[in-house]
Amino acid sequence: MKILESKYLGLRLKNPIIVGSCGLTNSVESIKKLAENGAAAVVVKSVFEEEIIQEHQDVLKNKLGDQDNNLEFLDYFDYQIKSDVLKKTAALIQDAKKEVDIPIIGSINCASSGEWVSYAKILADAGADALELNLFKLPSDVNQKADEQEQFYQSIVSAVKSHVSIPVSVKIAPYSSNLAASIKKMDDIGVDGITMFNRFYNVDFDIYTDEVIAGSPYSTNEEYYNALRWISIMSGKVNTDLSASTGVHNAETAIKMLMAGATTVQIVSKIYMDGPEVISSILEGIKEWMEKRGYVSIDEFRGSVHHDPDQNSERFERVQFMRYFGEHMIS
Ligand SMILES: Cc1cc2nc3c(=O)[nH]c(=O)nc-3n(C[C@H](O)[C@H](O)[C@H](O)COP(=O)(O)O)c2cc1C
Repeated sequence: MKILESKYLGLRLKNPIIVGSCGLTNSVESIKKLAENGAAAVVVKSVFEEEIIQEHQDVLKNKLGDQDNNLEFLDYFDYQIKSDVLKKTAALIQDAKKEVDIPIIGSINCASSGEWVSYAKILADAGADALELNLFKLPSDVNQKADEQEQFYQSIVSAVKSHVSIPVSVKIAPYSSNLAASIKKMDDIGVDGITMFNRFYNVDFDIYTDEVIAGSPYSTNEEYYNALRWISIMSGKVNTDLSASTGVHNAETAIKMLMAGATTVQIVSKIYMDGPEVISSILEGIKEWMEKRGYVSIDEFRGSVHHDPDQNSERFERVQFMRYFGEHMIS
């Protein structure tokens, strides 16, 4: 399918579909299946600093015994354990690189500023073709200044970029005090790509047990609107690649994201729900649509419906219903 060839983070891809970071990209066998079904690249399951800290604490509790006051020993253990957890992801990247011929993108999520660079270097040394920094901290601190979090993220990106030579993208949330300016700032500091947006683990309530429970882990095909709007708004204003994530469940939505200006689309929930075969059917749908329209490359229509302040601003920026629905009466 030559007409689907794409470029993302400077990498040549056979098509624009990437499997986003999740449990499906956490083993070589599964990555092989995704590649066989047409995935052009995968983002491996994030390395979470929290997980490493948890493992750290468990091991310390179980193994240290009477050494628990020996600071030198604690330092040694810290180093050992950290490298054990990261070693698994590094090995996954190394092994996957031997088995498939698609780019493998590493993913990192750190809570503290100190660890991003060291984790990034380990995954880059393992052979990752690029890195996606999963920048997420829920902005729930009422005492935090509006742009404090964004500045924290920007400093992480700059630090990682200056320590690894592979391309670096960020996966962001839509929660920002000024989303457009924050995306532009990321572009200005030289990030190679921005994945818009992460979809988080949701909370829900059980009204019979009064407990906080997990919401559905999977998106629905109605959840793509926010990414579509923001990719349309930003695609003409930044040089960095934009990757659409959340709610891409079919070829139509993938086409819309490309029309908005995305260079790639990431899919997760729909593969969990329908299996990896859904990738080839989405690819077939994009190709059929392109052929009907007479397109010979995605670049011919990429960004064709993006936000233009002089032409269609009102369409993208209208957020209130105003007249729409305002005249409907209940009969
Ligand atoms: C089971 C599951 C695990 C996930 N794990 C990660 C992860 O480790 N790192 C990450 O950046 N995103 C993770 N995500 C988020 C997805 O990469 C993706 O951004 C989100 O599911 C929205 O895409 P979708 O609508 O195609 O599912 C996970 C999603 C699911 C459903």
